[in-house]
Amino acid sequence: MRRILSTLACCLLPLIASAEGDAKYNASLPFRPSNITGLSNIYIWVGSYYNATTKIEFTPEIGSTTNESVCKNLQGQTFTAEYESFLAITERGPYNQGSNPVNTLLTLWNSDANLTSLDGLPWSSSSLEWYLESSPWVDHANNRSTDSDAGIESSVKDVFNLTLSPDTKGPPYKLTGTIKDADSMLTSFDMDLKPCNTSTETSRSYMTLIDFDWSNNAGWTWTYPTVDFQFDSRTANFTLNGYAAGSPYLIDRSDPTRPLGPDEVQGKIKVSFFGVIDSYHSDTLVNSSSTPTWLRTVGFGNNSANIGYDNGSLGSPRPLHWGAVAVCSVVSLAFMYF
Ligand SMILES: *[C@@H]1O[C@H](CO)[C@@H](O)[C@H](O)[C@H]1NC(C)=O
Ligand SMILES: *[C@@H]1O[C@H](CO)[C@@H](O)[C@H](O)[C@H]1NC(C)=O
Ligand SMILES: *[C@@H]1O[C@H](CO)[C@@H](O)[C@H](O)[C@H]1NC(C)=O
Ligand SMILES: *[C@@H]1O[C@H](CO)[C@@H](O)[C@H](O)[C@H]1NC(C)=O
Ligand SMILES: *[C@@H]1O[C@H](CO)[C@@H](O)[C@H](O)[C@H]1NC(C)=O
Ligand SMILES: *[C@@H]1O[C@H](CO)[C@@H](O)[C@H](O)[C@H]1NC(C)=O
Ligand SMILES: *[C@@H]1O[C@H](CO)[C@@H](O)[C@H](O)[C@H]1NC(C)=O
Ligand SMILES: *[C@@H]1O[C@H](CO)[C@@H](O)[C@H](O)[C@H]1NC(C)=O
Ligand SMILES: *[C@@H]1O[C@H](CO)[C@@H](O)[C@H](O)[C@H]1NC(C)=O
Ligand SMILES: *[C@@H]1O[C@H](CO)[C@@H](O)[C@H](O)[C@H]1NC(C)=O
Ligand SMILES: *[C@@H]1O[C@H](CO)[C@@H](O)[C@H](O)[C@H]1NC(C)=O
Ligand SMILES: *[C@@H]1O[C@H](CO)[C@@H](O)[C@H](O)[C@H]1NC(C)=O
Repeated sequence: MRRILSTLACCLLPLIASAEGDAKYNASLPFRPSNITGLSNIYIWVGSYYNATTKIEFTPEIGSTTNESVCKNLQGQTFTAEYESFLAITERGPYNQGSNPVNTLLTLWNSDANLTSLDGLPWSSSSLEWYLESSPWVDHANNRSTDSDAGIESSVKDVFNLTLSPDTKGPPYKLTGTIKDADSMLTSFDMDLKPCNTSTETSRSYMTLIDFDWSNNAGWTWTYPTVDFQFDSRTANFTLNGYAAGSPYLIDRSDPTRPLGPDEVQGKIKVSFFGVIDSYHSDTLVNSSSTPTWLRTVGFGNNSANIGYDNGSLGSPRPLHWGAVAVCSVVSLAFMYF
């Protein structure tokens, strides 16, 4: 019952939000105020956002086990793919468990995405090819829109750890992490390799990072994926080095339970991003703090580079947004008493 009312409340929110909007703003949470017209939901967190093309390089080394060699068509080659992407480096919330100093989210977009008019959270877009998050924002967002009343009750463990380099006095911040046994929290992506068997397989392959030890890989020298990145108020660099597995999609996809062909390959992967700040969507990174800290500006009209600066109509109605979602539960409680 409660859930139905919440859902109802959420449907009505775009209307209600115009009246209440920023009144629900809670500065203890890492979310921006809800009164910023035209701010896509991928920018709901306080922090810095960077744009760039992400390059992926994959070099097959073995087949599906250590004892199987890479098929002829793929031997001795490196395959690359490039995607327009955003890197978000954002403030943590009280719901984040662990010692990571920030949350990071790298999103890779297909060419059909209109990046200036993205709507909804990134994972709700069919144009999103891949994302790599250091903390599971997905579940959190889902939980928020369907459950819990006043605060954020659920807490989330990090997908991978991030350690700030010792003796940091201020930006640029250098962080490193290792992705290990995060399997259920990692997403896969597709990439063009070459078919091993041209009569049955396509060149499109289903790719997954190798983040756990398993018997097929016994005897193969591989390492867990590591991430390294650096950021300051102007640029951010993000690199992942590790190993991945790729399986070709079958030409004949009539059996939905068996979309992939048998010719799996495993090899080295590198993901690199060299981004520039998107100051329109970024808060101000404090330049004298030993840990990454932001002065909130997006939504407050105190940074002329930001969206909504100098706009007299910040409080006007806008599409459903985190802030609106945050009042859902409060509103839904109210509905129970009407
Ligand atoms: C937007 O909301 C924030 C948080 O409540 C508030 O400080 C700011 O003044 C609001 N901006 C406008 C233009 O109403
Ligand atoms: C703001 O968020 C904090 C952290 O979740 C919570 O403890 C506090 O109760 C919230 N304040 C309001 C007014 O909801
Ligand atoms: C992308 O969206 C913007 C804003 O809605 C629009 O002005 C633009 O024409 C769109 N571009 C394409 C290629 O559809
Ligand atoms: C979401 O809510 C469910 C049910 O309360 C809980 O079991 C789960 O751990 C929550 N997930 C996250 C990521 O908080
Ligand atoms: C980060 O995680 C990796 C893999 O679990 C572990 O080896 C490493 O010690 C961790 N580092 C820190 C600082 O916790
Ligand atoms: C390609 O797959 C078909 C069907 O499984 C098989 O009959 C054929 O021998 C394979 N060709 C090669 C070169 O492996
Ligand atoms: C590879 O072959 C060796 C020798 O036949 C065998 O002992 C080992 O279990 C095989 N490894 C895998 C991963 O199949
Ligand atoms: C990112 O890499 C570029 C090119 O190597 C470099 O100029 C820039 O200073 C780097 N930025 C950071 C924050 O490391
Ligand atoms: C970054 O990308 C966003 C979305 O396309 C765009 O609004 C913004 O202007 C871009 N900023 C820079 C500096 O490229
Ligand atoms: C740090 O920020 C302050 C205030 O924005 C600015 O005046 C100062 O020049 C900055 N220093 C550096 C080293 O960027
Ligand atoms: C902008 O205003 C907000 C809200 O008053 C404040 O928290 C933030 O520190 C201000 N930012 C700067 C750069 O002054
Ligand atoms: C400013 O307000 C107008 C009128 O509501 C709106 O159309 C426009 O998108 C706003 N611009 C920004 C940058 O918020």
